[in-house]
Amino acid sequence: MRPFDIEAIRAEFPILGRTVYGRPLVYLDNAATTQKPVQVVRTMEDMLLRVNANVHRAGHLLAAEATEMYEAARDTVAAFIGAGEREEVVFTSGATAALNMVARGLCELLVGEGDNVVISEAEHHSNIVPWQMAMGSRGELRVLPVGADGRPEVERLEELVDERTRVVAITQCSNVLGAWTDLQRVVEVARRHGAVVVVDGAQGIVHGGVNVNELGCDFYAFSGHKLYGPTGTGVLWGRRELLERLPPMMGGGEMVAPQGVTFTSSIFAELPYRLEAGTPNYVGAVGLAEAIRWLGEFDAEEVARHEAKLREVAVAELLKINGLKVYGADPDGSANGSGDGKNSAPIVAFNVEGVHSADLGQLLDKQGIAVRTGTLCAQPLVERLEEKGTGGVCRASMAIYNTEQEVVMLAQAVRKAVEMLCR
Ligand code: ALA
Repeated sequence: MRPFDIEAIRAEFPILGRTVYGRPLVYLDNAATTQKPVQVVRTMEDMLLRVNANVHRAGHLLAAEATEMYEAARDTVAAFIGAGEREEVVFTSGATAALNMVARGLCELLVGEGDNVVISEAEHHSNIVPWQMAMGSRGELRVLPVGADGRPEVERLEELVDERTRVVAITQCSNVLGAWTDLQRVVEVARRHGAVVVVDGAQGIVHGGVNVNELGCDFYAFSGHKLYGPTGTGVLWGRRELLERLPPMMGGGEMVAPQGVTFTSSIFAELPYRLEAGTPNYVGAVGLAEAIRWLGEFDAEEVARHEAKLREVAVAELLKINGLKVYGADPDGSANGSGDGKNSAPIVAFNVEGVHSADLGQLLDKQGIAVRTGTLCAQPLVERLEEKGTGGVCRASMAIYNTEQEVVMLAQAVRKAVEMLCR
């Protein structure tokens, strides 16, 4: 394990050394995408400059080396998420592609007239819209509400899940509030009713990780770019017996068996290739594996403690500002008192009374601070939270490389922006 040396970590992210509008960059939009360490960029550069060839196709040496690197990346991902078998790891272009694939496939396979699928109010659009599209008018989409603490009210799940529930699709961690879902409870209730459990791990994976086998879910989706890896990468993990039955969303090369294609029909390949039509983003997959390797150099508990502290300081400093409200779980930043990050990921959504979130975001940007504002691809949740006139919320989301000084600077910049706006 590497010692947790924040300056050494930051030095591996050259972007953090740049300025914006002449001020040092304070990057607090990590829930939208994380920055990439040089190790990830160099690994991809090396593959592109030294190895590049299409995988699983040609017999030449470059193709063999590229294939080996791509498949080694699959092994890295499988080990990272606790997958029982490497073939259960399907590379996708991101969590959105993974969730679309599973929604389309499961609805075709399992959902008929009178059936239902349960999601939660905390979902990102990519775990709402694909289900609406895939179900059409066939089934009913039921929504588990979020409680006052910002978490999906899993204790009320029994009210929604019945013998016609085919799928429960739920986020591991809210991209708006950072609140964790009690997934164990979700799995337990869904199992009892024979429903399949799909978990959107897009925000959870980088802060809490996952062991899919211990959790007992059926599918788990995440993106590489929120995990210090490249954009255009992601993973759908699924249990073999379900993945084998999942109808492929895309057809093309690579997903068919050898000599499997005629003009009348096609025979699909084995897992995972049947779900990876076309040339995969093999350079990205290798970059993602490097990101996972890099993150694995650190003690996960230490990272969690660092991130929990960032959240706690951010919340404490922000709450000193008149008229500022922090939404969701642990508004005081330390509800379970453990400081271990188990209560909330380092994401803080807030508003200042009478201030439009976009105006606030703009004035923070001018002070070098990058945050996200608006409905954050989670419109139903944000609309329920926000007060009228704020146009959504302002969100600061932290990562391994952020410092306490940066979150203090955030609060100072918010105070200054509010003074200017409310003058
Ligand atoms: N889903 C990303 C976010 O939360 C883009 O900002």
